[in-house]
Amino acid sequence: MTDAPRTAKLTFDDKELELPMYSPTAGPDVIDITKLYAQGGVFTYDPGFTSTASCDSAITYIDGGKGELLYRGYSIDELAESSNYIEVCYILLFGELPTKAQLKKFSDRITKHTMVHDQMQQMFRGFRRDAHPMAIMCGVVGALSAFYHDSTDISDPEQREHASVRMIAKIPTIAAMAYKYSVGQPFVYPDNKLDYASNFLRMCFAVPAEEYVVDPILAKAMDRIFTLHADHEQNASTSTVRLAGSSGANPFACIAAGIACLWGPAHGGANQACLEMLREIGTVDRIPEFVARAKDKNDPFRLMGFGHRVYKNFDPRAKVMKESADEVLELMGIENNETLKVAKELEKIALEDPYFKEKKLYPNVDFYSGIILDAMGFPTSMFTPIFALSRTVGWITQWQEMLNDPSQKIGRPRQLYKGATQRPYVELDKR
Ligand code: SDX
Repeated sequence: MTDAPRTAKLTFDDKELELPMYSPTAGPDVIDITKLYAQGGVFTYDPGFTSTASCDSAITYIDGGKGELLYRGYSIDELAESSNYIEVCYILLFGELPTKAQLKKFSDRITKHTMVHDQMQQMFRGFRRDAHPMAIMCGVVGALSAFYHDSTDISDPEQREHASVRMIAKIPTIAAMAYKYSVGQPFVYPDNKLDYASNFLRMCFAVPAEEYVVDPILAKAMDRIFTLHADHEQNASTSTVRLAGSSGANPFACIAAGIACLWGPAHGGANQACLEMLREIGTVDRIPEFVARAKDKNDPFRLMGFGHRVYKNFDPRAKVMKESADEVLELMGIENNETLKVAKELEKIALEDPYFKEKKLYPNVDFYSGIILDAMGFPTSMFTPIFALSRTVGWITQWQEMLNDPSQKIGRPRQLYKGATQRPYVELDKR
C-alpha cells in the first residue's frame, strides 16, 4: 500500500483545492502550485521570492538557521580547508569527488582553454580606461558568443560542456585583462604551468619588465576566496542566469546577465561597498554613528556586508573569510590593519545590538573578503569582478542543471496588476 500522496488543502471563496506537496532531501517541504491558476483562477503573490522555490536542484544546499552551506553535500568548511577551486568546480559540475585521474584530466582541460581570442583585445580598447571592470566584464563575456559560435548550440550536450569549460577557463583571463586595462598596463597572457589561482594573480600583477613570482600564501588565499564564492543556491544572479537560459539564450549571454545582476550593491557589489564603508567609518570611535544610521528607518544607509535573505545565523563563508583575513594579514606582515580593526569592532558592536539581534543580521560573505583582497593589492573596483569570476562555475552548473531538467520551460511570472482598467483614447485636440 503506497502512502497517498501528501497534499495541502487550500479553501477560498467557493473553492477547495488539493495541491501536491513534495519533501526534499534537506530543507523545507514545498507545495506545488503549478496547477493553481488553472484550477483556482488565482496567482500566488511573492515579490522578492521570499517563500518561493523556483526549481528542483541538487547542487547547493543552505541551512540559513544553522549557518550551513553544502556543495553537492560537502560542507564549505571542509572544502575550504582540504580542497581547491578546480576540484570544487569538478564537484559542482559532475556531482562527485573526482579521482586523481579525473581531476588531472579536468584540470588540464581547463588549462588548455585559458586564452581568449586575441581579437577580443580590441573590445577592451573600446572602453574608457576608468570604466568599472564589471562594465567591461558584462560587455566582453556577452561578446564571447561572437567568437565561440561552436559552443552556443544549447541542444548539443557536447557544446554545452565545451561552453562550460571555456567559461570557467577564460573568466580569470577576462577579469585580469579588465584590471590591466584599467591601470594602463599591458595584458599578461596565461601561463599554463601555473595553477588556476596563481595564474590569475600573475595575469593581474606581473609586468613584462620584470620577473613575477607568485606568493604561495596569496595563491592559497585567492584559491580559498574562489571556493567560498563558487555557488550559493538560487541567489539573484543565479536566478537571472536560469531565467535567461530558460529562453534558450546562449551560455555566454546568460553568464553576462548573471554578471550584470551580481554587480548590484545589495548582492555581489556589497564587497566593494563594504570596504568603502569601513574606510568611511575610518576609526573605531566612529562606529556608533554608523550603527545608529543603519538602524534609522529614515536613513537609507545599511551596514554593507551585513544581513542575508537566507542566513539568519552566521554566514559560514564569513567565518572562514575572517580566519583567512587574520592569517593573510599576519603572513603579509600587515600589522594593525585599521580597517580590519574597525571591521572586528563593528561586528562585535552590531552582534550585541538588539536591532541586529532581533533582525538576525550577521556578517555575510562580503564583510571580510574586501579586507583580504585589499591586502592582496586589488583595488575595490576588482572585488566584484573576483566574485563574478568565482561564481561563474556555479552559474554554469545551475544553467546546465536547468537545461537538463525535463520539466524545464521558459520562466514567465505573472503579476498583481494595479494599473488602469480599459479606458477610451481621447484625441489630442479634445484633452
Ligand atoms: C550576497 O542570496 C544570496 O545567496 C547572495 C549571496 C551569494 O553568495 O550569492 O550570499 C551574496 O549578495 C550577500 C549579501 C550582500 N549584501 C549586503 O551585504 C548588502 C547589505 N544587506 C542588505 O541589503 C540585506 O541584508 C540583503 C539584501 C542582503 C537581504 O535583504 P532581505 O532579505 O530582503 O532583507 P530585508 O531588506 O527585508 O531586511 C530585513 C530587515 C529590514 O528591516 P525592516 O524593514 O524589517 O524594519 O533588516 C533590515 C532591513 O532594513 N536590514 C538591515 C540590513 N540588512 C537588512 N539593516 C541595516 N543594515 C543591513 N545590512
